[in-house]
Amino acid sequence: MLASRTGSTGPTAWILPFLSLITTAMSETAPKYQPQPYTVNISAKFLENTWAKVGDFRNSADINAPPWFDGPPGSDIASIAKHWAEEYDWSATQAEINANFSHFYTTVPPPSANYNESVDLHFIHQRSEREDAIPIIFLHGWPSTSLEWQNVIPGLVKPDNENQPAFHVVAPDLPGFGFSPALTGSRVNFGRKEYGAVFASLMEQLGYDKYVLYSTDLGTGIAMSLIVDYKDHIINHVSDFLLTFVTPADQARFDANQTTPEETAYINSSNSFFDQHSGYSHMHRTYPLTLAYALNDSPVGFLAWIYHLGQSGSDYQLSPDYLITETLMLSLQGVYSTIRAYKELFTPTIFIPDVPFTVPTSVLQFGGWSHYAELSGMTYTPRDWVERTANVTYFARQSTGGHFPAYFEPDVVVGHIRKIFS
Ligand SMILES: *[C@@H]1O[C@H](CO)[C@@H](O)[C@H](O)[C@H]1NC(C)=O
Ligand SMILES: *[C@@H]1O[C@H](CO)[C@@H](O)[C@H](O)[C@H]1NC(C)=O
Ligand SMILES: *[C@@H]1O[C@H](CO)[C@@H](O)[C@H](O)[C@H]1NC(C)=O
Ligand SMILES: *[C@@H]1O[C@H](CO)[C@@H](O)[C@H](O)[C@H]1NC(C)=O
Ligand SMILES: *[C@@H]1O[C@H](CO)[C@@H](O)[C@H](O)[C@H]1NC(C)=O
Ligand SMILES: *[C@@H]1O[C@H](CO)[C@@H](O)[C@H](O)[C@H]1NC(C)=O
Repeated sequence: MLASRTGSTGPTAWILPFLSLITTAMSETAPKYQPQPYTVNISAKFLENTWAKVGDFRNSADINAPPWFDGPPGSDIASIAKHWAEEYDWSATQAEINANFSHFYTTVPPPSANYNESVDLHFIHQRSEREDAIPIIFLHGWPSTSLEWQNVIPGLVKPDNENQPAFHVVAPDLPGFGFSPALTGSRVNFGRKEYGAVFASLMEQLGYDKYVLYSTDLGTGIAMSLIVDYKDHIINHVSDFLLTFVTPADQARFDANQTTPEETAYINSSNSFFDQHSGYSHMHRTYPLTLAYALNDSPVGFLAWIYHLGQSGSDYQLSPDYLITETLMLSLQGVYSTIRAYKELFTPTIFIPDVPFTVPTSVLQFGGWSHYAELSGMTYTPRDWVERTANVTYFARQSTGGHFPAYFEPDVVVGHIRKIFS
């Protein structure tokens, strides 16, 4: 355990026997698992070990290739490593994370016959004071955690006026990400159905029967199981990352010059992504353990790995503080547990539900996806392509926002969510 639970001081020994009698008597009706308040508190040992490695970072020699031609420039990495070792202040970040949000920790039952252990979760639960507030659960992807949602939570919980809808926000860390412990059971058969069951259980435990699902990235893969297996509970699925992969038929039309300009741009960018920019995901979904030994042991090396993906997947300059916090958040439970999620979720059908479905779907597309010009067409998936697999009831596009719109353009994302539910 790298972060400790609070509020768990047990009763003194003499009342324990009585308590267990009462617990047994009540177990028919009492919920088996109860969320506990949680304080983020990363262990000093982890922090010391990490800072020591950052201080010892050995940079790679430069061959003066054009910037980003072979990877992130060594000068960038050296300066971020220096900032990390000398200036970055985790305790201030941690204090802010604790001060700004209500954190909880809970356990949910084994999700399916494929995985027979219970699952521990950390989540932010920010309840609105409004009685008519709508529950909404946010599912993040990689490289990210519950902190991706920090800038949209306040506006959703507390709208500017009573005509705007209000929300009870639930923002979990996926198992093994951020403050949620890594799965400890055999996860060879753990897939999107199991992830979906984990989060449906969480919402059930919180007493939310009908709720909105907001997803991005790998979280959208998890959403594909929720909208099928728990469809009666999902009011609406909002996604800022509902891509559609190019089919052989699309490719044949492209090759015959029969695609629309929008399809042409999308197919070209998508092919470029899979040919030239997706090496990281091949490693994550083929040999995550091989890679994890290195990334786990070199915090700066792991940061460089995330930094490069940020460059291909975001048009925003990710600040050193953002990158360092992200790196720490994805190292806490061991890097293996986060990158292995690709093997479990990033399949050719990640964005395709198992059966045709009816859940109304709100599609938000944010452009300016990448610093690499050849990837710029990729987030504008043609609308009729998205409609192949989704019941699209709301569709919006904006030229900025990149891969993390809820973080970088929170007002725009909150504006869309309000519009969908007003
Ligand atoms: C974190 O844990 C340490 C050691 O147990 C304790 O001294 C400190 O007060 C804790 N901080 C918070 C924010 O709970
Ligand atoms: C915490 O809230 C303050 C004040 O609203 C804000 O400036 C800061 O960015 C927030 N930090 C996090 C981690 O949400
Ligand atoms: C749980 O699953 C593991 C691996 O599939 C198996 O070895 C173990 O016996 C199972 N335990 C229970 C209690 O079913
Ligand atoms: C498609 O257009 C390109 C460029 O205009 C041309 O070179 C190619 O021959 C065309 N292909 C087909 C199948 O018409
Ligand atoms: C799509 O969602 C709308 C709104 O809930 C619903 O009326 C409609 O029947 C759904 N369409 C399909 C094809 O399921
Ligand atoms: C596809 O993108 C490449 C650059 O990556 C460009 O050279 C080429 O002209 C583009 N082709 C089409 C059909 O847009």
